Amino acid sequence: MDFQGFKEAVGRSFGLALDGYKEKQLKRRIDSLMASLGVGDYRQYYEMLLRDAEQRRRFLDRITINVSEFFRNPEIFQMLEKQVLPRLLRENRKLRIWSAGCANGAEPYSLAILCAEQNPSGGHLIEATDVDDGILAVAREGKYKKEVLVNVSPQRLARFFDFQDGSYVVKEELRRGVNFRHHDLLKDPYGRDYDLIVCRNVAIYFTKEIQDEMYRRFLAALRPGGVLFIGATETILQYQQLGFQKLASWFYQRPA
Ligand SMILES: C[S@@+](CC[C@H](N)C(=O)[O-])C[C@H]1O[C@@H](n2cnc3c(N)ncnc32)[C@H](O)[C@@H]1O
Repeated sequence: MDFQGFKEAVGRSFGLALDGYKEKQLKRRIDSLMASLGVGDYRQYYEMLLRDAEQRRRFLDRITINVSEFFRNPEIFQMLEKQVLPRLLRENRKLRIWSAGCANGAEPYSLAILCAEQNPSGGHLIEATDVDDGILAVAREGKYKKEVLVNVSPQRLARFFDFQDGSYVVKEELRRGVNFRHHDLLKDPYGRDYDLIVCRNVAIYFTKEIQDEMYRRFLAALRPGGVLFIGATETILQYQQLGFQKLASWFYQRPA
């Protein structure tokens, strides 16, 4: 079995659309995992995945990089806080937000903090999705070590977290507005009428064709005037062809 055959077999058996991921990167990750397990070929590894749930979990862990933190790239989050969110809130008091590829929940909870501060009467809805059920369980638990919270001010820590057994636990006030669920950006249908879609540090793993397709689908999922927020190292070069207007380097708008 070659690498393509492996990807197809894994796709069929576990419903993972591995063809959408950048091939070199993906292969490097899978090869190093196989080497660490002493597995020499793809068929043997595929058979191992079929019979061993723990190995399937490790495999998914390796292809989905789950690193995240609260207010990742704080200077960019400041633009969201000071410019983008106030404008969206002027247009609609009850925001519908989608955090796509939400990892451990630090991103959607950061968004929930901003919403709570700027619209204390509530009513916003934050959908937070990821393909990795293991990391979604971590996100739902909402329990974090200090390292993930370096960009959270002492005032926010005091207001939105309880300190328990050396960890910071997200308070009910934030949890209420965040809905976590499984969603594969490469396979599953996208929702509609979002005011804000946040998809950061996810597209970097996908091929250029898949990125374009995803951005087209994000555009259709936004309400007119809604905004897509992407990662610090990302850019959408052909945003005009795709139908977006650029607000700033990391913010793209569906024309109103
Ligand atoms: C590096 S994290 C980014 C987390 C957060 N957005 C941030 O910027 O801090 C990438 C996340 O994308 C998720 N992911 C990878 N492939 C995905 C897919 N096909 N559909 C949905 N999520 C995916 C991974 O499971 C991982 O949690």
